[in-house]
Formats: sequence, structure tokens, C-alpha cells
Amino acid sequence: MFQLGDYLVPKDSVLVVSPYMIPSQARLFDDPYKFDPDRFLPESGKSLPRYAYMPFGNGPRICIGNHFSLMEGHLISRFWRSA
Ligand code: HEM
Repeated sequence: MFQLGDYLVPKDSVLVVSPYMIPSQARLFDDPYKFDPDRFLPESGKSLPRYAYMPFGNGPRICIGNHFSLMEGHLISRFWRSA
């Protein structure tokens, strides 16, 4: 058993984290439901906790395609515009 915030979590519990729900947390963002990708720019992102943005998971099982996928996104957007 261990304490997680206000909760006591029994041994062998399965905890599920929803990356989709994290950005909607008012304690992390001023206007959580506003579409504002700039909140993840390096300058503004510096004040965010480490796990505030985790589309690729985090920790020991973090996605191994993380950096590849981000690079792919840049390449696709570049060729999309010039096509
Ligand atoms: C936008 C693209 C992608 C997203 C959003 C994504 C997201 C994720 C997430 C959320 C996980 C689970 C992490 C966890 O269990 O905590 C994962 C695992 C994994 N991803 Fe991706 N992924 C993407 C692309 C890729 C690509 C391109 C590859 C391979 C080239 C890849 C390979 C893997 C592998 C092998 C795992 C399992 C890692 C492990 O369990 O140790 N992913 N990914």
C-alpha cells in the first residue's frame, strides 16, 4: 500500500494514466480547454512538470519511436506545404 495524493493505493493495483486528460487540468494550465499548442514551446514549457506532456508515455516503457515520430512530423509538414 502506498499513498498517492489523497489516495491509498493497495499493493498490486493497476494504475492507468490518460495522456488525453492531462492537458485539461486547471492546476497545470491557466485556460486548460483552449487550443494552445504554444504552451508546449520550449520557453513556455519550462515551467511545466515533467509529466505534463506525454503523448509517448514516459518512464522505462516510453515509446522508442518518440524522436523518430517527431522528426517525421516535421518532414511531412515541410513536404505537405511544398507539394
Ligand atoms: C505519433 C506516433 C507515436 C505515438 C503517439 C506513440 C505512442 C506510444 C505510447 C503512448 C507508448 C506506450 C508507452 C508506455 O507503455 O508507457 C508507445 C510504446 C511503444 N512505441 Fe510508440 N508511438 C508512436 C510511434 C512509434 C513508432 C514510429 C515506433 C517504432 C518505430 C514506436 C514503437 C514503440 C514501441 C516498440 C513501444 C513499446 C516500448 C516498450 O514497451 O518498452 N512507436 N508508443
